[in-house]
Amino acid sequence: MAQRPYIVGNWKMNGTRAMLSEARAVDRAAQRHMKVEVALAPPYTLIHAVHREVEQIWVGAQDCSPNPDGAHTGDISVPMIADAGAKFVILGHSERRQGYGETNELVREKADAALEGGLRVIICCGETLETREAGKAEAFVAEQLKASLPKLEDAGEKVTVAYEPIWAIGTGKTATVDDIAAMHSMIRTLLIETYGEEQGAEVRVLYGGSVKPENAGEILGTPEVGGALVGGASLSAETFMNIALAAGDTVEG
Ligand code: PGA
Repeated sequence: MAQRPYIVGNWKMNGTRAMLSEARAVDRAAQRHMKVEVALAPPYTLIHAVHREVEQIWVGAQDCSPNPDGAHTGDISVPMIADAGAKFVILGHSERRQGYGETNELVREKADAALEGGLRVIICCGETLETREAGKAEAFVAEQLKASLPKLEDAGEKVTVAYEPIWAIGTGKTATVDDIAAMHSMIRTLLIETYGEEQGAEVRVLYGGSVKPENAGEILGTPEVGGALVGGASLSAETFMNIALAAGDTVEG
């Protein structure tokens, strides 16, 4: 693996200031395990507080508005999350696509806004169980990504893709290593087509969906898996950092 594994915790709609101690514990552990790049995406309300508490890890948001400002009640813009200390934003998570009808086009607009505002982006993709059982998972994810990925010259550094089969999120089910390998290899081909040989090879492709310390070693050792997007298991610093340790074990040296 050319780059350090990237382990991102997505706290979803969990956490009040009482959770800051977990963020501090993650940060302390991350300082001891520099083979792995660790990041946390707390809810908007905690971005600034987490940012102030940590030294090593990056803090990000779980969504953003495509608009920079204006009359958009309840929305949060890229300049706002950047000002709070966010360095990246997760976009197109299936819980947003399914719960709020977010389309590929909207995900792409948000990605353009985030990049314009100096943030990096994690673009999520993934199929339903129905689509997988119909044998259409790879075709579906390819279409989703083609329409969601932003266009830019230096994607290798700024864009990360997270493949999260919807049926594996929060369910305790994970895709088989063969299915993960096949999907990630297809995504790599698509990234090279989109961004060119050099940049396309550098974009990290994370796996997400019920990643736990027990299955992390196997999943993170799969070819083309550059890290993990972790939901439930990121709410405890100890569990989350055990995933990061498993990631570190997949790296030589
Ligand atoms: P999970 O969530 O680890 O709880 O399955 C992953 C995600 O939705 O990012």
